[in-house]
Amino acid sequence: MITAVVYSESGGTFKTTMTANVAVALERMGQKTLVIDLDPQEGNLTSLFDVGAHRSDPDADNLVKHILDMPDGKFEDLIETSDEGIDIIPSHDMLGDFTSNLEQKISYETGMKNMSREEYPRFELLYELLWDKEEMHEEYDAVLIDPNARAEDLLYNAIFALRTLVAPVKPAGKGNLSLDGLEELVGNMESELEIEIGLSCVVPSGVGQTNAHQQYQQQFQNTEAFATPVTIGNRESLMDAMWEARGSAFKVVEQRWKTFEKDGEMVSEAGQRRVRDREIETLRKLYELARFIATETFDTEIDPILELDIRDHEKQTIDLRNDESVEATSA
Ligand SMILES: Nc1ncnc2c1ncn2[C@@H]1O[C@H](COP(=O)(O)OP(=O)(O)OP(=O)(O)O)[C@@H](O)[C@H]1O
Ligand SMILES: [Mg+2]
Repeated sequence: MITAVVYSESGGTFKTTMTANVAVALERMGQKTLVIDLDPQEGNLTSLFDVGAHRSDPDADNLVKHILDMPDGKFEDLIETSDEGIDIIPSHDMLGDFTSNLEQKISYETGMKNMSREEYPRFELLYELLWDKEEMHEEYDAVLIDPNARAEDLLYNAIFALRTLVAPVKPAGKGNLSLDGLEELVGNMESELEIEIGLSCVVPSGVGQTNAHQQYQQQFQNTEAFATPVTIGNRESLMDAMWEARGSAFKVVEQRWKTFEKDGEMVSEAGQRRVRDREIETLRKLYELARFIATETFDTEIDPILELDIRDHEKQTIDLRNDESVEATSA
């Protein structure tokens, strides 16, 4: 089974974008995929995929109630399916109050059982829910989590439950190689929780053509400290269009979503985007990334052929086993 938390110590490193794209890639490779959104903030994966209609309704059943073992309904009723086939447990505003709700539960339960607060397994709750109680390994081939790096209790629950990290990094001002924060977190969690945490790979993203960016990418590619299977270029136009398409970069390209000015207003429509080689290449890299995670980290067999059914265009078939980029077949 494939399980990964897309983690980055800093914000805005394209985590949500990457989680969405890797999830859709895994699904297209034949892996039944669930994504859990633990970020209650604006611009999260839930809004990207346009799910979670009840995310602001405190009375609605939601993941926090299940993690704290006070559900208002069935776990499977939390799950929504996007039109690209991935299943999503959407975010809920209650995730923002997770720690205070957890503290209350701990006070209550440790009081009842005459147990010390420190003994309470506060980071093991999601693990118990997903694997012991709901047996998600029976339902899914892959589970991904998009956490909120600032919400420690939820982040630790996510890492405790999934054990493997994928780390997007963005070229920083000085562009040095440091993943200190990540190594520190992994080290602390491993010793505190007595578990092993694996780093599947590091993915430099938003890498532009400038010298500084190219050097930065080289540094990452040349290090032996961790795997860097692909680098994702600066693809603002493609990735921003995901928010209009309400889906992955694969959907943007296949349905040809584009945002443009019309009668003095910005509009977004399908069927408008030009088919660009560099964007197809980016889809290939996203697919390559999903393949790396599936095969190299989890030893799972996947379908290595990416078929792109682009609206009003020839079908494109990309076989990851071949080096040459893209093959076109007539539709
Ligand atoms: N490869 C890329 N190149 C350029 N822009 C990108 C790339 N990937 C994503 N973006 C854009 O960057 C913005 C932020 O991305 P995203 O929301 O995925 O970051 P995040 O790490 O999840 O942020 P947060 O820390 O707030 O959760 C989005 O507008 C997205 O479209
Ligand atoms: Mg995000």
